Amino acid sequence: MQSYLNANLKPFHTFSIDQTCEVLVEVHSVEELITVYQSEEWKHLPKLILGKGSNMLFTRHFSGVVIINRILGKKVSDEPNGFKLHISGGEDWPDLVGWSVEKNMAGLENLAMIPGCAGSAPIQNIGAYGVEFKDVCEYVDILCLDTFKVKRLSRNDCLFDYRDSIFKHDLYEKSVVIAIGLFLEKPWKACNHYGPLKELGSDKLSSQSIFNEVCKIRTEKLPDPMQQGNAGSFFKNPVISKDLFDRVQAKFPDIVGYPCGETVKVAAGWLIDQCGYKGLREGGAQIHAKQALVIINADSATSDDVIILAKRVREAVRARFEIDLEHEVRFIGNKCETNLAEIVDNQ
Ligand code: FAD
Ligand code: EPU
Repeated sequence: MQSYLNANLKPFHTFSIDQTCEVLVEVHSVEELITVYQSEEWKHLPKLILGKGSNMLFTRHFSGVVIINRILGKKVSDEPNGFKLHISGGEDWPDLVGWSVEKNMAGLENLAMIPGCAGSAPIQNIGAYGVEFKDVCEYVDILCLDTFKVKRLSRNDCLFDYRDSIFKHDLYEKSVVIAIGLFLEKPWKACNHYGPLKELGSDKLSSQSIFNEVCKIRTEKLPDPMQQGNAGSFFKNPVISKDLFDRVQAKFPDIVGYPCGETVKVAAGWLIDQCGYKGLREGGAQIHAKQALVIINADSATSDDVIILAKRVREAVRARFEIDLEHEVRFIGNKCETNLAEIVDNQ
């Protein structure tokens, strides 16, 4: 197991911003993961588990150990009522989706091209085009960091919600996801109710055709991190009360919102777009010209450029719509996770 001191994190996160960490180590097995957490040398250093770094903003040098999860392995069991997949946490999620579609194991196609590791998928319950991770999840295997024992959580145990799970709350920093169990039901049922997928004719519906369409839409709309650094949607779509939604809608009849129970989920991209912020630049950071919810590293952006731009967006949306945006991207500070409000308060 190789470790690197004062390592540059730029190749390890999709924003591609220059930032360093005290120690960087790549783990290939659960045993190596345990060794890192139990190491005498690194005992007093904070630790951060990283997949592909596609939901991360390193705001400063991280004075701790960044652990890159590369625990690999896939097992499939073909059962009468569905495929059961046991996938190690370090497997690449988009490769997994492409592979499953190619092998005629339908069910993951709507979640194509979401960068990241399989083990990161449960953390924010990844979702796109009408499907969330929770819809295909059977279990999540975790390494408990107090006992160093492996425990299996059922889908219900994970308390999945929109961009949320138990891993952001009760199990925060208490466990590492080492594997996931997926169940892809037979017979396959297409999920094509989301926006542009509706236009796919029923005769053309297959796991492969949905996969192709999702890839096409994503390629058109979202910037490729290999070309322009980014971390996908920078903010979550805010979930607001029906009362507030009705008040905002009275002033802005075109507002895009999706009812969820007593609340309404509002399209944050629309809100930012309405502020006229598409293409807005701050140093090397820029609001993407095709998708206002994405901040890109347009030209050697620093983390401060991104922070200043995110602050401007949040203030503009609040001033115009009385709606608070919460960032989806995880902000990592010098010793632990931080957030935009905390950084702004300390300035
Ligand atoms: P990282 O960014 O490395 O980590 C994210 C968080 O999870 C960190 O807090 C990290 O500490 C923690 N973590 C990572 N691995 C583990 C583990 N094994 N155990 C415990 N904690 C862990 N997201 C969507 O939901 N839908 C989308 O459509 C979508 N589109 C995107 C498009 C682009 C172009 C990009 C760049 C991002 C997009 N995202 C999307 C966000 C991102 O792909 C997901 O959040 C993804 O799951 C992150 O995986 P990762 O391996 O890169 O995680
Ligand atoms: N919109 C605008 N202007 C913009 C962007 C969007 O008006 O600049 C409008 C669109 O016209 C549409 C609505 O906002 O009416 C929603 O846009 P879109 O379908 O592009 O989806 P989104 O809400 O912006 C969410 C997820 C994405 C996911 C897509 C597809 C969040 C925060 N984002 O984006 O996930 O891929 O839906 O399901 O929930 C991510 O989390 O990183 C991510 C990319």
